[in-house]
Amino acid sequence: MQWPKASTLVVAALWALGASCLPSTIDPRLLAARCSNTTKIYLQGSSQFNETSERWSVLGAPKVNLVVVPGTENDVAEIVRLADRYNVPFLAYNGVHGSITTLDKMDYGIEIYLGQLSGVEIASDGKTATISGGTNSKVVTDTLWAAGKQTVTGTCECVSYLGPALGGGHGWLQGRHGLIADQFLSMNVVLANGTLATIDAQSDLWWAMKGAGHNFGIVTSVTVKIYPLEQTNWAIETLMFTGDKVEAVYQAANDHLLKNGTQPADLHNWSYWFNLPDVDPNGPVIAMYIIQEGVTAVSPAYTQPFRALGPFSTTPQSGTYRDLAGWVGISLASPPCQKAGLANPRFPIYLARYNTTAQRQVYDLFASATTAPSSPFLDSLFMFEGYSTLGVAAVDAASSAFAYRGIGCWWRRCCRM
Ligand SMILES: Cc1cc2nc3c(=O)[nH]c(=O)nc-3n(C[C@H](O)[C@H](O)[C@H](O)COP(=O)(O)OP(=O)(O)OC[C@H]3O[C@@H](n4cnc5c(N)ncnc54)[C@H](O)[C@@H]3O)c2cc1C
Ligand SMILES: *[C@@H]1O[C@H](CO)[C@@H](O)[C@H](O)[C@H]1NC(C)=O
Ligand SMILES: *[C@@H]1O[C@H](CO)[C@@H](O)[C@H](O)[C@H]1NC(C)=O
Ligand SMILES: *[C@@H]1O[C@H](CO)[C@@H](O)[C@H](O)[C@H]1NC(C)=O
Ligand SMILES: *[C@@H]1O[C@H](CO)[C@@H](O)[C@H](O)[C@H]1NC(C)=O
Ligand SMILES: *[C@@H]1O[C@H](CO)[C@@H](O)[C@H](O)[C@H]1NC(C)=O
Ligand SMILES: *[C@@H]1O[C@H](CO)[C@@H](O)[C@H](O)[C@H]1NC(C)=O
Repeated sequence: MQWPKASTLVVAALWALGASCLPSTIDPRLLAARCSNTTKIYLQGSSQFNETSERWSVLGAPKVNLVVVPGTENDVAEIVRLADRYNVPFLAYNGVHGSITTLDKMDYGIEIYLGQLSGVEIASDGKTATISGGTNSKVVTDTLWAAGKQTVTGTCECVSYLGPALGGGHGWLQGRHGLIADQFLSMNVVLANGTLATIDAQSDLWWAMKGAGHNFGIVTSVTVKIYPLEQTNWAIETLMFTGDKVEAVYQAANDHLLKNGTQPADLHNWSYWFNLPDVDPNGPVIAMYIIQEGVTAVSPAYTQPFRALGPFSTTPQSGTYRDLAGWVGISLASPPCQKAGLANPRFPIYLARYNTTAQRQVYDLFASATTAPSSPFLDSLFMFEGYSTLGVAAVDAASSAFAYRGIGCWWRRCCRM
């Protein structure tokens, strides 16, 4: 629903709000009067409200009672100013994959849904691009790809560009160029007092925006470094193992892939543990994904040590950068991109290398908690995302609030922590 601007209604609304000391929301007509005419406002009970407030995980989800979809960057500032004035909580919604349970503390207020602020504009020199605040990762990748360019983004196609970026942000190209946030050159951000500021490395906020950014404002656009698309080919080999191979598989990952933080920039390895009762009714299977850039088949130097361990299946595939999300199950069509009403808590940690004794203990605990056919946790997933860390460690740790920059190489003292 789109609200008409009507000054008489605005006056009436102001009076009504003045009479109540703790409004749970703002009169939509006030918002409509301040925002551009492409702004959309959805009330509880409408199908659009439902669609725009649905989240990926229902566990500890924030609760809102009005959705505003700003049409311009300045609209975000207007919404924040009104929310401040009437003391109404607000929260930016982007790819809605944020699932820390403290979001639960929001039990009423305004959702600022960033979906209309989507787009990527490449500068004429081809060295930078300006990405709107609500653009998702796949739109960034696809738009740059069409222009023969690329930059670091998160790997999952339905997650926003900025959600991961403001926390540092991991992705396939980090081994070459560093974190997503390491690409930032300047940004437009609506501060807590409703000021729309343009900031860059000269700002005292800059350090914080690269790692803890979600806490300091709503980013309405960001200008970032982009790179020529040099390697279009990528290849993957997926090796599946039964749980008796846990120690052997992760020892091989330490020895042949991670290599004490020197894992090459073109190489990534992920592994998942999940239940496949037809193959192994006693515990989850291990899927080891070895992914390499610039080749049509993953080098045997990386795959052979794993093949030698006796996987029950081995699947090589090749394609381009844009196939990666589908290969590891995080494309728009994959389960993690559906909003299925599931509770999806996640518990991330950083590891420098695999401790095979600990991997076995974790595996056994995971198996005992999830494998019984009657277990409500049968569909649980353990993910180990072993990106190359070279490009990340090459950036001064003091330059950003991201806390784990040196994790891949601390024993080599290669990073200033
Ligand atoms: C399936 C899946 C795949 C993932 N893949 C990766 C990955 O490859 N790399 C990686 O680093 N992380 C990844 N993550 C973690 C991801 O970085 C976080 O879950 C992130 O918070 C999701 O952002 P979002 O915009 O999708 O979620 P939202 O819930 O919309 O936003 C998350 C938080 O960021 C705030 N926020 C969003 N946009 C802005 C903005 N423009 N300005 C200010 N604040 C904003 C929101 O208010 C909220 O607090 C993944 C998570 C999932 C569930
Ligand atoms: C919306 O605003 C723009 C610019 O202010 C104006 O040109 C346009 O006519 C308006 N559209 C409508 C439907 O009011
Ligand atoms: C919106 O979702 C609520 C809660 O799930 C549901 O009761 C209601 O029928 C939905 N309304 C519309 C219009 O879809
Ligand atoms: C908002 O906060 C910023 C940063 O503290 C400050 O520079 C600016 O003057 C403030 N704006 C208003 C209108 O108070
Ligand atoms: C796999 O990833 C881990 C974690 O980043 C790393 O230690 C290991 O060297 C990688 N192995 C390969 C073969 O890339
Ligand atoms: C990694 O570091 C450990 C501890 O310093 C050492 O024992 C091991 O040989 C190193 N492995 C590789 C592959 O460099
Ligand atoms: C490896 O894990 C085991 C079991 O949790 C622990 O006792 C041991 O100290 C760990 N080793 C290292 C080097 O961290």
